[in-house]
Amino acid sequence: MTNRKMIYEADEMFPNRWSPRKFADKKVDKEDLLKMVEAARWAPSSFNAQPYYFYCGFSEEGRSRVFDSLVEANQKWAKDVPVLMYLVAEKLLKRNGKENKYARFDAGAAWVSLALQANKLGLVTHAMAGFIHEKAYEVTGLSPDEFDIVAAIAVAYPEEEPTETPTPRKKTTDELIQFH
Ligand SMILES: Cc1cc2nc3c(=O)[nH]c(=O)nc-3n(C[C@H](O)[C@H](O)[C@H](O)COP(=O)(O)O)c2cc1C
Repeated sequence: MTNRKMIYEADEMFPNRWSPRKFADKKVDKEDLLKMVEAARWAPSSFNAQPYYFYCGFSEEGRSRVFDSLVEANQKWAKDVPVLMYLVAEKLLKRNGKENKYARFDAGAAWVSLALQANKLGLVTHAMAGFIHEKAYEVTGLSPDEFDIVAAIAVAYPEEEPTETPTPRKKTTDELIQFH
């Protein structure tokens, strides 16, 4: 991927993860989804609370309910995506019922683990902020007081012959760190 060259030598799995909008017409195995969530389970979290889970639109009906909550621009490219999830963060700590200020941070860490594991299984993912939150709460039956629906996530197999160009990066590595 010519526009995803690294400046410093990190592992290739990082630039190799990207968010396609075109996919193969192929079902995703439940076992592979469980392996992806297993990776997410090992993400670090504040108080080891694991304040996240994946609401997985897996059956035709489940998937189409999540699909209906996506904004039109995302529905255009996600129309044939076989699995559509929500990343859900639990707002309250089980240990004391107080707000968990790190719930979204931890959910984000879990999502990256899931995305990288997906790639290892030959799958691709694409996160979306573009969904209608009220609809997502209706679909899941979750209370917005207790749960944040952080993002929708598409899971699919990539196109056999890629026709898209992945994004480059806007910042250099040196712009992302300040040594003091
Ligand atoms: C939280 C989050 C929300 C995003 N929302 C959308 C979205 O609604 N629609 C979309 O097409 N891409 C969305 N993206 C994908 C980003 O545009 C993409 O990750 C970014 O351009 C970097 O490209 P890459 O993932 O291919 O490396 C989102 C990504 C993240 C992490």
